Amino acid sequence: MTFKTLDDADFSGKRALVRVDFNVPMHEGEVSDDTRLQAAAPTIQKLRQGGAKVVLLAHFDRPKGKVTPSMSLEPIVPALAKVIGAPVAFAADCVGEVATAAVDALRPGDVLLLENVRFHGGEEANDPAFAKALAANGDLYVNDAFSAAHRAHASTEGLAHLLPAYAGEQMRLELSALDKALGKPERPVLGIVGGSKVSTKLELLSHLVTKLDKLAIGGGMANTFLHAQGHDVGASYCEKDMAETARDIIRLAGQHNCKLFLPLDIVVAEKMAPGAPARVRTLGAVDEHERILDAGPETVERLCRAMDNSKTLIWNGPLGVFEMPPFDKGTVTAARHAASLVKAGKLVAVAGGGDTVAALNAAGCADDLTFVSTAGGAFLEWMEGKTLPGVAALSQ
Ligand code: 3PG
Repeated sequence: MTFKTLDDADFSGKRALVRVDFNVPMHEGEVSDDTRLQAAAPTIQKLRQGGAKVVLLAHFDRPKGKVTPSMSLEPIVPALAKVIGAPVAFAADCVGEVATAAVDALRPGDVLLLENVRFHGGEEANDPAFAKALAANGDLYVNDAFSAAHRAHASTEGLAHLLPAYAGEQMRLELSALDKALGKPERPVLGIVGGSKVSTKLELLSHLVTKLDKLAIGGGMANTFLHAQGHDVGASYCEKDMAETARDIIRLAGQHNCKLFLPLDIVVAEKMAPGAPARVRTLGAVDEHERILDAGPETVERLCRAMDNSKTLIWNGPLGVFEMPPFDKGTVTAARHAASLVKAGKLVAVAGGGDTVAALNAAGCADDLTFVSTAGGAFLEWMEGKTLPGVAALSQ
């Protein structure tokens, strides 16, 4: 796909409507993790330097078309001003007179954040009239919200058809990193998919085994695979009704020459609690009261060797209950090994999706991988091989 980028136009004096993703974690009314604000900064700065009037569109949470004060974007303003080192104006609506008056007051280089686009039902419905009302306040449109690009909403998709449309810097970065990992990767490519449920990652697993050379399965979903292979998983989390599906995935991997790595050994405990006494067990040696909470040392060792023998790694989902030491050990060891290979220039490692970033942060390695996506659901859908409407609408 090819896109127009910020290098392709003169923005001087123009009103740039920029879709960003400010759906950030908040704690007691303040931004508690500003990763997504930092990610939007290069686009905002480039447009300011180019003399644009920067008008930011974003959503927060899921107000379902109703004005919901607890989901206002206003509390983001001070955190954003700090990140970009410049004042940020705010308008209490994203369309209509309030928005237009605030946009009209901007001078080149100024930044304005408009209120949550999801306060209007037309946003999620991708209503043409609502998209038109948004477009009325811009001369051009920049989409810098890769992490919301799996939504075909007015501000992520509809606007691209109404105004000259450009990919922002973060969008460009995400797409090129993901293409490097899964589009045209250097082989062999190893995938790691963890997390608890096979049922939510079925499409992902089925797609990846057709694309990758090797795939390691970890986290709770590995229990379902072990059960499907006839191993007793004791009191572990396990989707027993997905056993046949797990066997289908194993067969599909075989047909596509994708080497599957299921656990060789596991770490168990009787309670899922921080510091609970943990034991290493071989497969099938799990007692009926025990729960599998992490990958075992042999499994992790084999995974690290598989990384040594790969050129590209794509990672989604932790290998164990990483929030609760000592059950973070498998994830932390694997993440640190990936980071050391990246540093040595031996591996391209791309990771993303919800818990994965938190797990890499906990391991202290998020900055050491080649690329860590800011996206949750969009990263997963992209890994599943789906076309993201927000990306498709930008392509020329
Ligand atoms: C995200 O946080 O993954 C994006 O902002 C999308 O949010 P949504 O799942 O509410 O559409």
